[in-house]
Amino acid sequence: MSEARLGELVVGVGDGAFAEYMVLPAAVPVPAGWTAQEALGLMVNWPTALAALTTLGRVVAGETVLIHAAAGATGQAAVKIAKHYGATVIGTASPGKHEVVLALGADHVLDSRSDALAADVLRLTGGVDLVVESGGTLEASLAAAERVTGRVVVTGLAGGEAAITNWDLVYRHQVHVIGFNLGVLIETAPHLFGELMGELFGLIAAGVLSPGRPTTYDLADGPKALAELEARATVGKLALLP
Ligand SMILES: NC(=O)c1ccc[n+]([C@@H]2O[C@H](COP(=O)([O-])OP(=O)(O)OC[C@H]3O[C@@H](n4cnc5c(N)ncnc54)[C@H](OP(=O)(O)O)[C@@H]3O)[C@@H](O)[C@H]2O)c1
Repeated sequence: MSEARLGELVVGVGDGAFAEYMVLPAAVPVPAGWTAQEALGLMVNWPTALAALTTLGRVVAGETVLIHAAAGATGQAAVKIAKHYGATVIGTASPGKHEVVLALGADHVLDSRSDALAADVLRLTGGVDLVVESGGTLEASLAAAERVTGRVVVTGLAGGEAAITNWDLVYRHQVHVIGFNLGVLIETAPHLFGELMGELFGLIAAGVLSPGRPTTYDLADGPKALAELEARATVGKLALLP
C-alpha cells in the first residue's frame, strides 16, 4: 500500500461522519483520475468484500458464492470480485434491484426478503461453498452452505442480532462460521490489510473495480439518506456532499 503525501487527495475512514472536517486514522490515495466521490468505497466496502471472499472466505475458481445485499455498496464489489476469481455467484436483493445484480455479472439473483431463501438457494446449487452474510439472513445462510466444507463469513447485522448455538453447529449446520470486522483486521493484522489493499489496487488496475457512482445527498439530508438505507431502498454507495 503506498503512503499518502502531503496535499494528496485521500479517502479514509474514522469516527466523525456527517462532518465537513475530520481526522482520519487510516487513509489511502484516491486513484489517479478519480474524484473523491468515485473513491468512496475504497476504504470500507471494497476491502470488506475482498477480505470476505479471499482472506477469510478463501474462494477458489469453480466454487459457488452466495452474496447477500448484492445491490449494495459492499455487495456490488463482492459480486464483481467473486466473478473475477471464477466463482458462480448467487446474489440476493430486494425484488426492485434484481436487474442491477444481474448487470454486475451475477449468475442468479434471489429475493432477499423471501421466507424460502435457503430452499431457493439449495434448489439452484445443493449447497454453496461460501456465503457473504451481511444481516437478516443468518439462518438461511447457515442452511444454504455446503455441509462440512461450506464457509459463512458474517460481515454485518442489518436487521438485528441472530443467535446460533453449539447445538446448531453440531446437529444442524456443520459449516464454518467466520466473523469479520474490518477495523479489527486493520488494527490487529496490518500486514494482512496491507496485502488486501495491494490486491484491491491490482483489481482496480485490471479494471475489475471501476470508479464508484454513489447516490449523493446534501449534508443536511443525512437523515433522509439513513432513512432510505434503513428502508432498504438504496442501491450502491451513498455520499453526503459537504
Ligand atoms: N464488518 C465490517 O467491517 C463491515 C464493513 C463494511 C460493511 N459491513 C456490513 O456490510 C453490510 C453492507 O453494508 P453496505 O454499507 O454495503 O450497505 P448496503 O448493502 O449498501 O445497504 C444495506 C442493504 O442491506 C440489505 N438489508 C437486508 N436486511 C436489511 C435490514 N433489515 N435493514 C436494512 N437493510 C437490510 C438491503 O438490501 P436488499 O433490500 O436488497 O436485501 C439494504 O439495501 C452491512 O451489514 C454492513 O454493516 C461490515
